[in-house]
Amino acid sequence: MPFGLGPRICVGQHLAITELKVILSLILSKFCFSLSPAYQHSPAYNLLTEPEHDVILRMRSL
Ligand code: HEM
Repeated sequence: MPFGLGPRICVGQHLAITELKVILSLILSKFCFSLSPAYQHSPAYNLLTEPEHDVILRMRSL
């Protein structure tokens, strides 16, 4: 609970989260992502559909 809880909850939390999304988008836009050749497509049907063997991404600077 980084923003606290109850009557004194952080009034700036929505602004802070929006700012973080903008910053993260700007950082991610400087990179290119692709699947590793080691990736095996094997969806596991649990409560959520999840990759059975993880998703290994290759990240390249643009
Ligand atoms: C990552 C960013 C931020 C974090 C982690 C954070 C966290 C917190 C926490 C833990 C509290 C205390 C809550 C409590 O007493 O229960 C608080 C209060 C407050 N925050 Fe933030 N905050 C962030 C950003 C901001 C921003 C961007 C603003 C304003 C633009 C802001 C304005 C306030 C104000 C005015 C309070 C006092 C609320 C009150 O006492 O009624 N915060 N914040």
